[in-house]
Amino acid sequence: MAKPLVSSRVAALTGTVRVPGDKSISHRALMFGALAVGESVIEGLLEGEDVLCTAAAMRALGAEVEHREDGTWRVRGRGVGGLAEPDGVLDMGNSGTGARLLAGLVATHPFTSFFTGDASLRSRPMRRVIEPLSRMGAQFVARDGGRLPMAVIGASRPLPIAYELPVASAQVKSAILLAGLNTPGETTVIERHATRDHTELMLRNFGATVTVAELPEGGRAITLVGQPELMARPVLVPSDPSSAAFPAVAALICPGSDVLLPGIGINPLRTGLYTTLAEMGANIELVNSRTEAGEPVADLRIRHSELKGVVVPPERAPSMIDEYPILAMAAACAHGTTRMRGLAELRVKESDRLAAIARGLEACGVGVEEDKDSLTVHGVGRPPQGDGLVTTHFDHRIAMSFLVLGMVSADPVTVDDATAIDTSFPGFAALMNGLGAKIAP
Ligand code: S3P
Repeated sequence: MAKPLVSSRVAALTGTVRVPGDKSISHRALMFGALAVGESVIEGLLEGEDVLCTAAAMRALGAEVEHREDGTWRVRGRGVGGLAEPDGVLDMGNSGTGARLLAGLVATHPFTSFFTGDASLRSRPMRRVIEPLSRMGAQFVARDGGRLPMAVIGASRPLPIAYELPVASAQVKSAILLAGLNTPGETTVIERHATRDHTELMLRNFGATVTVAELPEGGRAITLVGQPELMARPVLVPSDPSSAAFPAVAALICPGSDVLLPGIGINPLRTGLYTTLAEMGANIELVNSRTEAGEPVADLRIRHSELKGVVVPPERAPSMIDEYPILAMAAACAHGTTRMRGLAELRVKESDRLAAIARGLEACGVGVEEDKDSLTVHGVGRPPQGDGLVTTHFDHRIAMSFLVLGMVSADPVTVDDATAIDTSFPGFAALMNGLGAKIAP
């Protein structure tokens, strides 16, 4: 059932809050734990619905996955190539990452699996993984347009491939590399624009050989040596920079705010938003930079700042692909125009995010222009009117972004349905209210 939420103007946001674990790293920790020999202990796993779907899927594929009372997760793996045929349909909920990475994993196991998901996931393109995984020998039966539900008939004699990504996508890259795990020989993925490299970092940490070669013509080639023995490893999941973006932007736009967000992942392939905010004049301090379990982490201190409009270059998109909705809210409060380009991929996320942002901003009295793959937001340097009803299309990031805008708008902002927030940021409203926000049903 839809759960509307209303966000009203606040005085200032202050305090320290811990945002949930990184979604990308959490999915991968469960999957790699399930392929490793021995027991992997995961701390800080995101317990959002997306990741819980992956946990259930790994159990269905034969791994032992246990949630302990001390909050840790334990995964006893089956070894590379050791997954078992699931006897039910794998329901990946709202998660493109879960569906695409797992499709890669089962593509080189000699059994048949069936995938489905919620209405949003069932509308998203899977051809981008079907194409390369078919070259490795898997067969697929999908709905029109390459959409879920889909059956994957895994290859019994998988072939290694060298594949250049037609779209910058860490999910597609990872699906191929995961398929390469149970494939003899070397599997290579070429990407023209670097995307998040959590798969590469974590595979190495579990004992696989992964090499990255910078190409003279630009881009990089990532090569995995197939059929490694993965060994169980402890995983410490950093807080998600994509989730931290919501309290961070809220603090920037609400006058008088001063917020500390400890332990945020600052992998350079994820921090495009923070680079952009700095260019807009944001006061964001990185304190106590360190490396935890192979990933760079820091505490972020964010204070209210006068922001100005900027041009965001298209080549930055892969490092901030999930952050355009919340950046658009910062842009709406900035002095001057912000132009964002190279956003075609936003049309195939949990919703058509370009359209959802544009319609939502219009409803809140903000000037906005939407093109095929770009967005222009006209900030006037003062809080928007608000007073809008925003349609979220069951998209967690659209819901959270507009609740943040409501914190500074003259009149409250209502989102039609906030249930999707639980896919990535359970407890979002309570956490924001703890800083001083006023989010209520
Ligand atoms: C993700 C990759 C990105 C991102 C998604 C998580 C991942 O998707 O939007 O939220 O964990 O690999 P694409 O690969 O479609 O860009």
